Amino acid sequence: MGTDIQQLFTQIAPTYDKLNRWLSFSRDRQWRAKAIAAATAKLEMRVVDLCAGTLDLTVACLKRFPHARITAIDFSQRMLDLGLKKVPHVFHAQTDLRCGDALATGLPDRSADCVMCAFGMRNLADQHRALAEIRRLLAPEGEFVMLEFFPPETRLARLFAKTYGRFVIPALGGLIAKNRAAYEHLRDSTASFYPLSAYRALLAQHGFIVTRAEYLSGGICGLIVARKSDDNFF
Ligand SMILES: C[S@@+](CC[C@H](N)C(=O)[O-])C[C@H]1O[C@@H](n2cnc3c(N)ncnc32)[C@H](O)[C@@H]1O
Repeated sequence: MGTDIQQLFTQIAPTYDKLNRWLSFSRDRQWRAKAIAAATAKLEMRVVDLCAGTLDLTVACLKRFPHARITAIDFSQRMLDLGLKKVPHVFHAQTDLRCGDALATGLPDRSADCVMCAFGMRNLADQHRALAEIRRLLAPEGEFVMLEFFPPETRLARLFAKTYGRFVIPALGGLIAKNRAAYEHLRDSTASFYPLSAYRALLAQHGFIVTRAEYLSGGICGLIVARKSDDNFF
């Protein structure tokens, strides 16, 4: 597991939600709601929330799909512990929290109808390994729903990255989370990640059919939905 990243998220866990709301002007909630709404509903769907953090996506998913069974995985136990406090009690029996590596989940083959990941893929050291793991987890016709900060492509997003992203976010991260480096990581990992169009191509290379790929909030955030193609792909 990438211990530096793991430590970094563990350190910022207590202020993670508050800063998400402040830095995104509460847009992050809308982005996650859009991602959940984009998933194909299935009765008693089996969901894996990868890099689940403080479980905002898990909770949004359970509220929209109250019969879903969710396995939420993150390698920071502290993030998961804080997240559990936000899961309504009625959903506890359907929510399985696992402290583990998104690159090697240990979950059975084809055990998920939907794998979701919000703002986590960018942190994973090996995208090929990550997508192979997601494909392995998905049942035939299963879906991968991904929210991510991609390198800015629109004019608005570029301006936002050069000003707010470059200076304001690390400064506030230093002030509130007492960890400027974590918020510099957000900036740097976004800048060096695949552009959205390139990520589409990567998904196709790994046996996914992209059914939706769009920018949200003027290009600041990206949403991708991809269906697992035929199991005989490889
Ligand atoms: C930016 S946070 C996103 C959390 C959550 N999905 C959300 O929407 O707020 C990224 C999360 O990914 C986790 N993470 C990073 N690399 C990981 C890995 N290899 N395996 C499991 N979790 C990982 C971190 O601990 C952190 O909680």
